[in-house]
Amino acid sequence: MISKKMNGVINGQINAELYSSYLYLSMSTWFSERSLSGFASWMRAQAQEELYHSTKMLDYLLERGGSAEFEAIDKPQCSWSSPLEVIQETADHEAKVTGLINDLVDAALAERDHATNNFLQWFVAEQVEEEASVGEVVEKMKMIGDDSAGMFAMDLEMGKRVFTLPAE
Ligand code: FEO
Repeated sequence: MISKKMNGVINGQINAELYSSYLYLSMSTWFSERSLSGFASWMRAQAQEELYHSTKMLDYLLERGGSAEFEAIDKPQCSWSSPLEVIQETADHEAKVTGLINDLVDAALAERDHATNNFLQWFVAEQVEEEASVGEVVEKMKMIGDDSAGMFAMDLEMGKRVFTLPAE
């Protein structure tokens, strides 16, 4: 059975993942309102991925005999000055989430909860992938700058991403 302390910190991360989903849905909407449907779709997939992360953590808690208490989700930002700003904030947000996951791993190791540490390694690897993928988008957008043909091509490219539930 999972400890009360570990249960508490994972419970907090469920809220953080739901907030990430909410933030990315807000970003997706901002893109939709500007007819950037490829970016909107990419962000929608990002939001779905975060929702999956939260339920993966919830299922783990339940599997270990723990429990979850849902807290209010903070209001996300809903306006930005440019597409690059949205993507840069996504990259910054993911770096913050990596820090939160690292804190969870530290907490699991501190109480020698190897099962939770093993579970969390999936998220450690996921953060490497997430930071790399959004970092690549940031770099491409910096190259494009104000070039509208470049933005048009990038929007098409972003629209190719489809969310699929990862194999467990
Ligand atoms: Fe749940 Fe994007 O990390």
